[in-house]
Amino acid sequence: MMFFQSKKLIGLDIGTANIKMAELDVSRKSATLTAFHIMPTPPRAINGGEITDPAALSDALKMMVESSRTKRKNVSIGLWGTSVITKRIAIPQMDEKLVAGQIKWEAEQYIPFDINEVNIDFKTLREFHSSPDTMDVLLVAARQDMAFLYQDIVQSAGLTCAVIDVSGFAFANCFLNNWGTQKGQTIALMNIGAAVTNFVVLENGEVIFCRDIPVGGATYTAEIAKGMGISPEEAETMKISACTGQAAPDEVPKVIASTHEMVAEEVQSSLDFFVNTTPGLPVQQCFVTGGASRTTGLVNFIGQHSKLSLERFDPFRELRVNDSSMNPGYINDIRDFASIAVGLGLRKAGDT
Ligand SMILES: Nc1ncnc2c1ncn2[C@@H]1O[C@H](COP(=O)(O)OP(=O)(O)OP(=O)(O)O)[C@@H](O)[C@H]1O
Ligand SMILES: [Mg+2]
Repeated sequence: MMFFQSKKLIGLDIGTANIKMAELDVSRKSATLTAFHIMPTPPRAINGGEITDPAALSDALKMMVESSRTKRKNVSIGLWGTSVITKRIAIPQMDEKLVAGQIKWEAEQYIPFDINEVNIDFKTLREFHSSPDTMDVLLVAARQDMAFLYQDIVQSAGLTCAVIDVSGFAFANCFLNNWGTQKGQTIALMNIGAAVTNFVVLENGEVIFCRDIPVGGATYTAEIAKGMGISPEEAETMKISACTGQAAPDEVPKVIASTHEMVAEEVQSSLDFFVNTTPGLPVQQCFVTGGASRTTGLVNFIGQHSKLSLERFDPFRELRVNDSSMNPGYINDIRDFASIAVGLGLRKAGDT
C-alpha cells in the first residue's frame, strides 16, 4: 500500500563497461545495502565518456530495472569524465551568501565550456587558503547536454532522476561513510574503471581535488587488441582470463605488464598536478578500487611508481548488508565495482 512515492533512491552508476545499481536504507545512525545489481553496458554505447547509443543504454537499463523488481523510482546518478570539470580557484574573501554571485562572473575564465551550457556549483573550502585576503572555492561545472541525456535515458527506463552528482564526489561520500572524516589527514582515492580512473583527494573529510584520469581497464584491452591483432571483445576475454589465473596466450600477460607504465604515468601526472597546485599536507594514505584495479600487477606498479602505499578500498567496511538477498561470495564479487553506486545510493532525494 503505497500512496506516496518512496523518497528512497537508487544509486545508479552508468560506466563504460558496467551499469551498477545500489539500493540502501539510510538512517541517521547507519546505512544498509538492501540490493545491488550489475550488468555489462551494451557494447560501444559509451565511448570515451560520450554516450554514443542512448537507445541501447535505456533498453539495457529498463531490463535491469525490471529484473531487479525494485520498488524505487528515484535515482541519483553521477557525471564523470569530460562531462564535468572541477577546479580550485581563489576569490576575494567575502560573505558566504555572496559567493554564488561572484562565482558566476569568475567561472567563465576557468572552464573550457560555454558558460551558458553548463551547470555551475561550488563548495567553499575551509582549510588552507592561498592568502589571507582570498578564499578557496572548488568550482564544479557540469555539461548540461550530458545531464539532460542521462535524464532522458533514466526516464525512458521508467525512473526519475532525483539527484545529479559527480562520480568523484559520490566516491568521497562512500569513503566518508566507511572511514569517517579522518581529522588532519590528506587521503587520496582512486577508482580504476574501464575508460577513466576517478581520482579524489580529501582533507579533513572535505573534497579538495577531483579529476577523472583517462586511463583504466580499456587501456589494457586496447593494447592487447593492437598488439595481437584481435578484436577488442577477444582481447577483453583474454585479459580477464590472464588476470584470473585461466589459460591465455603468453603474449597477454606480457602486454599487460608493459602497459602498466603508461597507466601509472598518467596517474602520476595527476598526482603531480595535485601536489603542485594545492597547498596543504602531502597525501598520507591512498585507497584504490574499481574493476581494473584487479589487473594483475597494476596496483603494485602504481605503488612503486608513486611511492605511495596503496590500500584496498572497501565500500562495505561500515555498511550493513542485507544478507538474505546477498551472500558473502556475491559481496566479494561486487566489492571492486560498487563504490560509486553505493556513494550515490547514500544520497537523499532533495540533497544538492
Ligand atoms: N578480474 C579482472 N582483471 C582485470 N580487469 C578486470 C577484471 N574484472 C574487470 N576488469 C576490468 O574492469 C573494468 C570495468 O570496471 P568498472 O565496472 O569499475 O568500470 P566502469 O565503471 O564501467 O568504467 P568507467 O567508469 O571508466 O566508465 C573493465 O575494463 C574490465 O576489463
Ligand atoms: Mg566507473
